[in-house]
Amino acid sequence: MDSEWLQSQLPERRIEWHNTIGSTMTEASRLASLGAASGTVVGAEEQTTGRGRQGRRWHSEPGLGLYVSIILRRRFNPATLPVVTLALGLAVREAILSGAGLACDLRWPNDVLIESKKCAGILTQLESSAIIAGIGINVNHSSFPEELHGIATSLRMASGRVQSRELLLLELLASVDQYCHLLEKHGRGPVIEMFARTSSYVSGRRVCVDQEGSLLRGTTAGLNDSGFLMLRGDDGINTVIVAGGVRPCS
Ligand code: BTN
Repeated sequence: MDSEWLQSQLPERRIEWHNTIGSTMTEASRLASLGAASGTVVGAEEQTTGRGRQGRRWHSEPGLGLYVSIILRRRFNPATLPVVTLALGLAVREAILSGAGLACDLRWPNDVLIESKKCAGILTQLESSAIIAGIGINVNHSSFPEELHGIATSLRMASGRVQSRELLLLELLASVDQYCHLLEKHGRGPVIEMFARTSSYVSGRRVCVDQEGSLLRGTTAGLNDSGFLMLRGDDGINTVIVAGGVRPCS
């Protein structure tokens, strides 16, 4: 990553780039607790303990991906918070479309997919009244460890060419700003509508959902007004999914 060039393109923004770090989430949280400004970016070439959702690890091969955490201090209505992840998913999708020319699918709440394989993920956490938006994009990977075979892909694998991480990050920061602005100005409605229109997973998909140890099986039935996923269970019971891993199943 040419972080000097990046900083020259965005002189107003604080960008901290690391060669190796445990997780950009930890460093961004530390900076947020010290009062770092909204928009501050912590990025790394490599993460040794990259974190995914639900206690999983995020495969962070050196020099090939975008591993960034962005500090967001925005005037979101508290009711909007669960929708921030959805807005970030739309922002990542848009950045990949304009930066790499690839159209992605979104799987509620935070998976970005190309041909059903994951190319990016989003992790959000709160720290000192800031939201830390952690975004991992598999950019130039040409292979993955065996446990990710069949479930992960990269922009390079999908497009057949090496992609510029610098240009992708510029697109990403612009689209994150755009979606945050939309949320601040118009609340959660437009983001929920856009997510529902964009994601093939929101309605009529057969899925399994991990719910604290038990597995729910059913068909997705849209998003409710809070942005949570509704599931029509095979047992006839309707459930609102507030968190949990959603996977395709037969
Ligand atoms: C997921 O899909 O499970 C979320 C993955 C989030 C990964 C990113 S990479 C940058 C930031 N630092 C981390 O440790 N995790 C997030």
